[in-house]
Amino acid sequence: MTKRVAILISGGGSNMVSLVKAMTEDFPARPVLVLSNRPDAGGLQKAAGLGVPTAVVDHRAYNRDRLAFEADVTAELAKAQPDLICLAGFMRIMSTDFVQRWAGKVLNIHPSLLPKYPGLHTHARALEAGDAEAGCTVHWVTEELDGGPILGQARVPVFENDTEDTLAARVLVEEHKLYPAVLHRVCDGINQPLYLP
Ligand code: GRF
Repeated sequence: MTKRVAILISGGGSNMVSLVKAMTEDFPARPVLVLSNRPDAGGLQKAAGLGVPTAVVDHRAYNRDRLAFEADVTAELAKAQPDLICLAGFMRIMSTDFVQRWAGKVLNIHPSLLPKYPGLHTHARALEAGDAEAGCTVHWVTEELDGGPILGQARVPVFENDTEDTLAARVLVEEHKLYPAVLHRVCDGINQPLYLP
C-alpha cells in the first residue's frame, strides 16, 4: 500500500525536494503535503512547482502559544491523512503532545552523527572538537530532542581546511541520499538502521 507522506519544512527545503523527487511511481510512498511554519520558506515554491499541495502555519502568529500553533499544524496534517511525517529542515521543537498525537509516524534528519551533537551548530561543534568525520542521521522523533531510535546514518570525512559551510555542504549531499533511502526502508517495514557508505 503506497504510504502518504507529509513533509514539514522551515527554509529552502532541499531535503524535501530530494524526498519528493525520489517518490516516483515505483516508490512505496507519495508526497501529500508540504507544510511550513514560515510563509517565506523557499521550499514552498519548490513544492508547488513539483505539484505537491502546500500549507503554512506561521508560528509567529501564535504569540508564543506553542500548543495553539501545534493544534493548527495537526489540523492541517489531519486533512492530508499522512501515514508518515518527515521533518526536513523544520526548525520548531514540537511538544510531547504533538509527538504523542503522531506517535510512530514522525521522522527527522539531523546534521550530525547522533548521539553526538544533538541540537544546533553541529558542524561548528564537530570542527571545534577536531573530529575526523561528521555526517547526518535520520531518526524516529520521540519526546527526547534528536534522541529517537536511529534509522540511518551517512558519514563524511572532515578535512583540515574545512569551514562550517564546506562541511555542511558535504553533509547535505549525503542527507539527500540518506533520507529517501531510509524512507523507502521504513515503507517496506525495515527498521534496521542503514549506514552509508
Ligand atoms: C539541513 O542540514 C538539515 O539537516 C537541517 O536543516 C538543513 C537545511 O535543510 N535539519 P533543507 O535544505 O531545508 O532541507
